[in-house]
Amino acid sequence: MERYEDRIRELLAQMTVEEKVGQLHQCGPSLVGTFDVSFEELLNMMFDGRISEEEFGRIMSAAGRDFHEDDLRAGRIGSYNGVSDAATANRLQKIAVEETRLGIPLFFGYDVIHGFRTVTPIPLGESCAWDPDLWERTARMAAKEASAAGIHMTFAPMVDVARDARWGRISEGAGEDPDLTAAYGAAKVRGFQGTGLGAPDTLAACVKHFAAYGAAEGGRDYNRVDMSPQRFCEEYMPPFKACVEAGARAVMPAFNDISGVPCSVNKKLLTDLLRDAWGFTGVTVSDSNAVAECVDHGYSADRTRAARDAIMAGMDVDMASGVFSQELVKLAACGAVPMEALDRAAGDVLRLKFELGLFDHPYRSDTEREAREVMDPAYRALAREAAVKSMVLLKNEGDTLPLKKGLRLGVYGPLAASRSDMLGSWAVGADGEACVSLLDALEARGETVVRLTDENWEQGADCDAIIAAMGERKELSGEAASRADIGLPGGQEDMLKKLMGLGKPVTLVLFSGRPLAIPWAAEHVPAILMAWHPGVEAGNAVADVLFGDENPSGKLTTTFPAAAGQCPMYYAHCNTGRPGGRGKFTSKYLDAPIEPVYPFGHGLSYTRFEYEGLHMLRGQSALIASVAVKNVGDRPGDEIVQCYFRDLAAKRVRPVKKLAAYERVHLEPGEARRLTFEIPYEKLGYYDADMNFVIEPGDFDIFAGGSSADCLCERFSL
Ligand code: GLC
Repeated sequence: MERYEDRIRELLAQMTVEEKVGQLHQCGPSLVGTFDVSFEELLNMMFDGRISEEEFGRIMSAAGRDFHEDDLRAGRIGSYNGVSDAATANRLQKIAVEETRLGIPLFFGYDVIHGFRTVTPIPLGESCAWDPDLWERTARMAAKEASAAGIHMTFAPMVDVARDARWGRISEGAGEDPDLTAAYGAAKVRGFQGTGLGAPDTLAACVKHFAAYGAAEGGRDYNRVDMSPQRFCEEYMPPFKACVEAGARAVMPAFNDISGVPCSVNKKLLTDLLRDAWGFTGVTVSDSNAVAECVDHGYSADRTRAARDAIMAGMDVDMASGVFSQELVKLAACGAVPMEALDRAAGDVLRLKFELGLFDHPYRSDTEREAREVMDPAYRALAREAAVKSMVLLKNEGDTLPLKKGLRLGVYGPLAASRSDMLGSWAVGADGEACVSLLDALEARGETVVRLTDENWEQGADCDAIIAAMGERKELSGEAASRADIGLPGGQEDMLKKLMGLGKPVTLVLFSGRPLAIPWAAEHVPAILMAWHPGVEAGNAVADVLFGDENPSGKLTTTFPAAAGQCPMYYAHCNTGRPGGRGKFTSKYLDAPIEPVYPFGHGLSYTRFEYEGLHMLRGQSALIASVAVKNVGDRPGDEIVQCYFRDLAAKRVRPVKKLAAYERVHLEPGEARRLTFEIPYEKLGYYDADMNFVIEPGDFDIFAGGSSADCLCERFSL
């Protein structure tokens, strides 16, 4: 960290209090336009149907944006969120560098969550590839594309462990397992930041939302989070620690409180844990307006106190609320905020700008590079690979799939034709028309397609096979998109039943940003392919899998409940004293099963894999588990071999299964391979009642297989 400290100290010594506070204000360009309501109200008008999406889009495209250049010239802005083109970025940078007193450059942040303009599958989908190399490559591609548009930081990866399918933001993370999410997040950080932030094709990763945002009560976005310190450290911290260890240079605290203290003003979180315990030296960037919202939480009495509470807790940059900009100068003047706090925060921002090379090269891109690298057609191949590997074949009875070519296909559902819905949540500013829809792909393949609708669905009787493209529009997941009912929306299940009544083989292709409750479909529909929201190459990737050009390999990283009433639902649950079963007095529901419709780790292939010979060895510093897996089918395929363990008795009850290791392996027909997993003993550890991390002797079960619900098992004593 020593590299820039002298230059930072010299610069801080020259800066006025106003200029230090200016570095802590992140400006979100405000919309100015032909509407006489606030942007917030305009959004609400669209969401509640008072204006159509098209009308909203028309207003947006006609709206101008105010970048508050006068504030910038006065040194009151240190960074922007929401600038996504090189010309604007360079115009604002020029003002910062040439027209402010000290010429301190800006940094530009943006939500590059799963691709910038070449949009890849939503993170929940891509996580089902269980492929850190892929995760890194798609992040590298996104960094190249977004940095060409003048962006320096992405507000990603989102590594909120999520176990409640009602929560719309489950779409943005890597599912329910802390270790898989940690591997996902670290790979994304490596991909975004590349070989070092000085390279112009990199993005500073801003890992979010710190922390435990995915545990919002009731799956309702922004709701309370209250949990034991043990659960917090065992199940929600690992992904953030992995991202900090991977070198993430920014962290975004979450909107929620943790056991009563909002993350934005949580010193234990932002200073004691993040900086003192983990040694983080980057920047903390608030979520949008989150500092001001500490007043709404009922924690800070007013905006002035919110400013003080936040900066003293360890918050560096205030995104969009203006609280730092409006309050910190006077708080510093009266001594309520010591200069050390301002110097820490401003120093963190300056350090990042030095690391990005912005003092020496403030213009990291230009319109020529942007034109060359944004939406580079070469990127689409990787987007297609990611989409194929993200898909999960949930069911395939009677080899309904793969489809033969040349059939007369009845294709039902608005999501079959929709291009923009393939983007999914958080494809900010991406062009939906750049997406390939399922219909586009079928047409490009020359397949015979009959478009089935709610009116003419009976024409399906004249078809050889039916594809029902169903699920969620992209607006039904993502931020502020929790659903109390996670079934197929809008009567789709009724239509599915009609289509099934035609007596033709039906394949259900699901597009959604969350696990959907589809118990009827799971029981009656012969083939179900979970496609998530697959991005720009959606249709081609779905067709590749449907026709068998690609063998599906994805495995669920999130549990599929039978009903919202079962949420939160996850594989790594504890047994309870009365494990759910047939007996009356056991932990279950009267009106729903206790098992999920599809479990964590589940995913089928067009070939079959068999497992044998699970062995255990106790090594010096790790358990050595090995298992043989064989491709017993007639076509090559990838299998994601999973290894779990269970601690049968401990000072705190432990999960019935916990992921210990996994490996994606390619096997030709008839090929067998023995995989070996090294499981460090600390993976078996946990925090006891006094928050001591303990690894105890005792009996354990080790599991290995192709799903959390289908494993070989061996017992051993540690
Ligand atoms: C939003 C989201 C956060 C995003 C930020 C900036 O409210 O919570 O994930 O990065 O604002 O757009």
